[in-house]
Amino acid sequence: MKILFIGDVVGSPGRAMVDEYVKRLKKDYKPTLTVINGENAAAGKGINEKIYKGFLDAGAQAVTLGNHAWAKRDIFDFIDTAKWLVRPANYPEGTPGVGMVFVTINQIEIAVINLMGRTFLPANDCPFRKADELIAEAKKRTPYIFVDFHAEVTSEKIAMGWYLDGRVMAVVGTHTHVQTADERILPKGTAYISDVGMTGPYDGILGVEKEPVLHKFLTNLPVRFEVASGREQLSGVIIDVDDKSGQAKSIKRILINEDHPYIER
Ligand SMILES: [Fe+2]
Ligand SMILES: [Fe+2]
Repeated sequence: MKILFIGDVVGSPGRAMVDEYVKRLKKDYKPTLTVINGENAAAGKGINEKIYKGFLDAGAQAVTLGNHAWAKRDIFDFIDTAKWLVRPANYPEGTPGVGMVFVTINQIEIAVINLMGRTFLPANDCPFRKADELIAEAKKRTPYIFVDFHAEVTSEKIAMGWYLDGRVMAVVGTHTHVQTADERILPKGTAYISDVGMTGPYDGILGVEKEPVLHKFLTNLPVRFEVASGREQLSGVIIDVDDKSGQAKSIKRILINEDHPYIER
């Protein structure tokens, strides 16, 4: 089976890239499962119901989130009915939404888990222990488990990769918005990348306009961030998994922008 994962979609430029490329990528790579991280999809922070449904229409079977999950108040109105929306599982007990969903494709169940790191991010429950808990629950139903680990620092992400090696198909990092070139298959068969990268503006700073960010660095004064305009990019990975063993065979980065044009397969 193949899994297509699209990294943090930022605002309308990111959504435009999803609309333009996800169907093409699906046609070319024929993924069994497509997952989109949508934590920045609504004006750069958060998500609303229309955008969530738009991602399902674009071909995703699950939408993962991150620290910006709660940025738009709309989330509290639809998270309980959004069956395929996955927020970080290690938020405290009682947080709305779920941190794991089971997607059924051709009678095969795939667990999609979202976890969030704790270094330079809110002090949530331990993502490692939460992973143990969820994997034990998932394994009762399926050997196929996919993890989006939304975290800031590479050490925490690499640690999670090693911690889950052989227990899940893939640990893909999100949140930093910069694609890393460390994709690999860990020794026990888990596909790993520290960060998939961002889908949105190509010329901003992590998806937002340069000028306010520069002003902030130069003055330390508070500024209002706007999603950057101009050229766009899409960042993703395609993971190939052995159906029998549930072990990953390959992980390939996808980066589409003006400097890395998409080549039809
Ligand atoms: Fe993000
Ligand atoms: Fe984030």
